[in-house]
Amino acid sequence: MIRVEHVTVEVEERKILDDVSFEVRKGETKVILGPSGAGKSSLLKIILGLWKPNSGSVSVHGVEITHLSEREKMPIRRRMSMVFQGNALFDSLTVAENVAFFLQEHSEMAEEEIRKRIEDCLEFVNLSETQDLLPEELSGGMKKRVAIARAISFNPEIILYDEPTTGLDPLNAKIITGLIIRLKKERAVTSVVVTHILRDAFAVGDSLALMSEGRVVFDGSAEGLLASTDPFVEDFLSEIREEADLLTHQTGRG
Ligand SMILES: Nc1ncnc2c1ncn2[C@@H]1O[C@H](COP(=O)(O)OP(=O)(O)OP(=O)(O)O)[C@@H](O)[C@H]1O
Ligand SMILES: [Mg+2]
Repeated sequence: MIRVEHVTVEVEERKILDDVSFEVRKGETKVILGPSGAGKSSLLKIILGLWKPNSGSVSVHGVEITHLSEREKMPIRRRMSMVFQGNALFDSLTVAENVAFFLQEHSEMAEEEIRKRIEDCLEFVNLSETQDLLPEELSGGMKKRVAIARAISFNPEIILYDEPTTGLDPLNAKIITGLIIRLKKERAVTSVVVTHILRDAFAVGDSLALMSEGRVVFDGSAEGLLASTDPFVEDFLSEIREEADLLTHQTGRG
């Protein structure tokens, strides 16, 4: 579904992504872990086709996108959605208008059809009652759910999530990871989830990649991550040792 091969991105002679390769199979949820500045968001931008790599290739749905024009990328982008870290909701639009926005701009759907789709999307995230509220009237967890409702408005096959649970309390984080899991199970969505929260990574990830300084230093199972003797992996885990120990203990992993 997504294949990144030997991708390097340089900005002002600094490698933001350095020979990154990884792939996401159909229906899989791939987690990207790593400390701040590791290049996680940059990798999402590469997959979305917002950035062009200096070298390497990126294929989505089997189509190599690196050499496509903006126009040529459109049909591929349409099958993919992104949930941004800051949600990227429009402050002056209501919840319903936010969810409808891309459908109104980029689809041929009739108003009535759009209205029905908004209802479905908001029902999926359990926010049916909030259609006429403004984003500022919602809690952080609710805003994130609106962002997810908007992300699924086009029935995407791929969803990219950038830090979907950062800043949320554990209960709201669990609601969000629950939605990510349901989208996989009920709608066969293929996902990439960027996070630095190990608990959420383990909750949603079928496989995990760990990034450090623009490189993928580990790619494999949760068990493999906890058991790894790679110095980068050990460093990362030692910084969040308490959380890692707790998870090892709870799951019998490691
Ligand atoms: N548009 C840009 N121009 C120049 N440098 C950039 C740009 N975007 C990101 N960078 C740099 O690339 C590196 C990786 O950034 P990126 O946002 O991908 O990290 P991240 O892993 O998502 O971090 P965080 O957890 O803080 O979100 C950082 O050093 C950042 O300063
Ligand atoms: Mg980021």
